[in-house]
Amino acid sequence: MLKPIEIKSFTQIDTIKHSSTPLFDALKLYESENVTSFDVPGHKRGLDPQSELYYYGQSTLRHDVNSMPQLDNYDNPKGVIKEAQHLLADLYLADDAHFLVNGTTEGIQTMIFSVCRPGDKLILPRNVHKSVLNAMALADVTPIYVTPEFDATFGIAHNLSYDQVKRTINKHPDARAVFIMNPTYFGAVSDLASITELAHMHHMPVLVDEAHGAHFRFSPQLPLSSMEAGADMAATSLHKTGGSFTQSSALLVQGDLVDKRKVKSVINMLTSTSASYLLMSSLDIARKNLALNGYQRFEQLMPAVQAFKRAVNDIPGFHMLDGFVFKELYQQQLDESKLTIYIDTTIELSGFEVYKLLRSDYNIQMELAEPNLIMGIVSIADNEDVLNRLLHALQSISRRYHQSDGAVHSPVLKQLNIPEQAMGLREVLYADKRPVNIEQAVGEICAESLMIYPPGIPIVMAGERITQEIIDYWQFINNQPILKIGTENSNQVYIVEKRGK
Ligand SMILES: Cc1ncc(COP(=O)(O)O)c(C=O)c1O
Repeated sequence: MLKPIEIKSFTQIDTIKHSSTPLFDALKLYESENVTSFDVPGHKRGLDPQSELYYYGQSTLRHDVNSMPQLDNYDNPKGVIKEAQHLLADLYLADDAHFLVNGTTEGIQTMIFSVCRPGDKLILPRNVHKSVLNAMALADVTPIYVTPEFDATFGIAHNLSYDQVKRTINKHPDARAVFIMNPTYFGAVSDLASITELAHMHHMPVLVDEAHGAHFRFSPQLPLSSMEAGADMAATSLHKTGGSFTQSSALLVQGDLVDKRKVKSVINMLTSTSASYLLMSSLDIARKNLALNGYQRFEQLMPAVQAFKRAVNDIPGFHMLDGFVFKELYQQQLDESKLTIYIDTTIELSGFEVYKLLRSDYNIQMELAEPNLIMGIVSIADNEDVLNRLLHALQSISRRYHQSDGAVHSPVLKQLNIPEQAMGLREVLYADKRPVNIEQAVGEICAESLMIYPPGIPIVMAGERITQEIIDYWQFINNQPILKIGTENSNQVYIVEKRGK
């Protein structure tokens, strides 16, 4: 019998409980004991004086250790790792939390392998990250894509509506699970609680890509976090907005729809047997900081972000993605901490050029660019001063490049039609492939996924039939100064020559 969803309202965090860091404390104690190492890693806590590893500092090197009874074991944690994971689960209101040392990518793989069997259908938005496609290919899962709401002004896809998910579930009642992003790269948030309730009525667990939502838990001004909304599993990138080291994430699990023992066995299958203590302890440290200071920091940061947005809207040529308009247009919530800045045609630069200029002339690194926008992420570590630096740079760019008669630059991206899925994702893995010039690829089955990174959302996925529209789009982005993933030679694309066995 399924329990009804209980939306957990914003709850106070027990700061006394969260003031300890069991894993980090154990590491510090071990370091202080000055043990002679005959174990790995072979840099022996940085003992080789000729190795430039010293650059990272004695403290880092002395904490880069491997498992031992004193420091617990990631595979079967019973000591300090287990305690630290319990605290993480408590903070995010989950039943279980697992440290991940291969990012949210590993969390996404774990969610899909834990829930889906080969051949199962998974309902998911089209604009998912490549890690989701790769996980489906490995697990031999069939994607049932739902086209998200498209914002024609900004040229970006947002999230799924409740009605879209409902229609898809009705059409595919045999689907195994529903996969939702909370939020999208650009901060769009679906009504996750209602979607979860609906999915549960159909006995489908809800798997959440929360790569960009690790901070949601810490302010009532932000959207609901996955666990608060009742979702079954979430892969949460603490390394993005939570303050831990790059590559460290968490997998959160709750409820009875997911087999928790299986989750742990899948994690062990996918994780290195030498899970990094630096990464894991950074999760322990970030958890404590979020628990003790997260609420207060976001309470201070959010008004500063709102003031920043109002000031940007006063700069000729720049406009912020606006939460109010967003709600009216798409009935979705916006993560207001995301800085998605639209550049209108009165600025004689594309988004890619503004991105480059911010780095070269103002020493500011943005998260990403699209033809008509740039996007920045703020986190627990940010404050008003940093926002002001970006504001002043944008004001300066506007003074330099604004033309009131309207300059012309790259067209806004349009939404691409979903091409025919001619071959399963896994089948493509084993097919024979060959490169062809992109102009000659119409009608061929694509053997790789092509994308701009970041955000890493594919333009065409492996197994899909290439259309003229896709070729035109790829040629357009090939002329832009951005990272493209998919082809070694961006004028060529790998196509399927012969189906594998
Ligand atoms: C939406 C989304 N999902 C998943 C991932 C993968 O996360 P990670 O880099 O932690 O593996 C990313 C990374 O950028 C992402 O943007």
